[in-house]
Amino acid sequence: AKTHHHEFDVQETPVKRLCRTHNIITVNGKFPGPTLAVRNGDTLVIKVTNRARYNVTLHWHGIRQMRTPWADGPEYVTQCPIRPGATYTYRFTIENQEGTLWWHAHSRWLRATVYGAIIIFPKSGSSYPFPKPNLEVPIILGEWWDRNIIDVMRQALFTGAAPNVSDAYTINGQPGDLYRCSSKATKKISVKSGETVLLRVINAALNQQLFFTVANHKLTVVEADASYHKPFTTRVIMVGPGQTTNVLLTADQPPARYYMAASAYATAQNAPFDNTTTTAILEYKNARRRSSSSPVLPQLPAFNDTATTTAFTSQLRSIPSNAKVPTKIDKKLFFTVGLGVVNCAPGPRCQGPNNTRFAASMNNVSFVLPRRTSLLQAYYQNIPGVFTTDFPRVPPVKFNYTGNVSRALWQPRFATKLYKLKYGSNVQIVLQDTAIFSTEDHPIHLHGYHFFVVGQGFGNFNPQTDTSRFNLVDPPVRNTIDVPVGGWAVIRFVADNPGVWLFHCHIDSHLTWGLAMSFLVENGKGKLQSIEPPPADLPTC
Ligand code: C2O
Repeated sequence: AKTHHHEFDVQETPVKRLCRTHNIITVNGKFPGPTLAVRNGDTLVIKVTNRARYNVTLHWHGIRQMRTPWADGPEYVTQCPIRPGATYTYRFTIENQEGTLWWHAHSRWLRATVYGAIIIFPKSGSSYPFPKPNLEVPIILGEWWDRNIIDVMRQALFTGAAPNVSDAYTINGQPGDLYRCSSKATKKISVKSGETVLLRVINAALNQQLFFTVANHKLTVVEADASYHKPFTTRVIMVGPGQTTNVLLTADQPPARYYMAASAYATAQNAPFDNTTTTAILEYKNARRRSSSSPVLPQLPAFNDTATTTAFTSQLRSIPSNAKVPTKIDKKLFFTVGLGVVNCAPGPRCQGPNNTRFAASMNNVSFVLPRRTSLLQAYYQNIPGVFTTDFPRVPPVKFNYTGNVSRALWQPRFATKLYKLKYGSNVQIVLQDTAIFSTEDHPIHLHGYHFFVVGQGFGNFNPQTDTSRFNLVDPPVRNTIDVPVGGWAVIRFVADNPGVWLFHCHIDSHLTWGLAMSFLVENGKGKLQSIEPPPADLPTC
């Protein structure tokens, strides 16, 4: 195994998109940021220097960080932010993970432009469980704002329902052909007839589930969230924010140019829907001469096409030899996930309908980050008064979660509550969407883990009828589960990684509104079951 050293300088960089230039935050002046390409078993040492005027932290999304929670990155959860002018070195080893993941800022909304791909190849001497492709390309889906992202975030925090639609969706940082002033820089992938391409699709968008498809071509899904899955073919994939999906594509169509495209999957009632499509171009090398004709456009599903999403996700199956699904459960948890509003005194910070502002919650607790220190430091150094460990195991009130009930029933409480798990315990969590404000599809991400998705469905989870239908044989393995709109999903994992681990909606507006909680997984008995000591350069608050 190898150790890779990188220097990441977080800085302000002028970038031109949609005919205009403005300053964004980047790593090393690149947008998207640098790709990290490693092998399973390798170690990464990334020295981050903050040359921007905002606090920043970086998160390696989906990397398990076994015993190294100090390198996970969410600000005020596992570390204090890296102040302007300061430096922090992230150091971690890839343990038994292969495929595509990504890294991103985990400080307010800076991940809008601070992100890049992580590619984990098999150990040397081993290979993919599918035929080696001729070409491999990261396809990073994102969103572009014409404005300063911190201003966009403030607006989302204090206003009503439709504050912050982005100005474009992007592929590898480019809006693509169909947007103004964007043609020249549109991402192009050149293939020869008969070649196979591995597309490593990452949804780095801040607030948007996205459909992705390629005109006239079939996609064979082989991996999701850095776990191999049983291959299946589909015309379109749906990727929630935070998720990654690897697909194989064979250039088996008449030599020409074809658009690959992504568009919104927006499920919320009254969602601020942006009906734009971002494109890249798949061009056959032998077709280049007559490339004056415009590329073939694919058919994308309608923005509210939940049926296509369900059809796609229900086909995802892990390779059973990878799956050791816990069957005896030590902790059965039931968390509601959803949006709500809280009453507030009229003023600039209270811009929702009828003197309210948005607040999102799990089990009616709207998560508040500490400021004095990080949760992990507070735990490790026994600093009292930073958090409590009474996060409710089940909702404090039972009701018809997806029915039409009064908002008054569910006014979220703001608190920093953790849920404590014993090392090695088998955990099951039912995630239940609520209809308090509006039902919505929530991509829920667990730091430090991946988990089995043993079931999902619409309406209210019914323990009698739904439990018997769990897939304990080949359930998908993910680090981010898209809980269906007005529905539920059930995940299982073994709590084998001690630390404090954020569990949250990967839609940043929902995260900002508090749709998060944290697990505290206690140390086990031996050194290999315990958190390593903190690095000497860990920032202080
Ligand atoms: Cu991809 Cu908490 O993040």
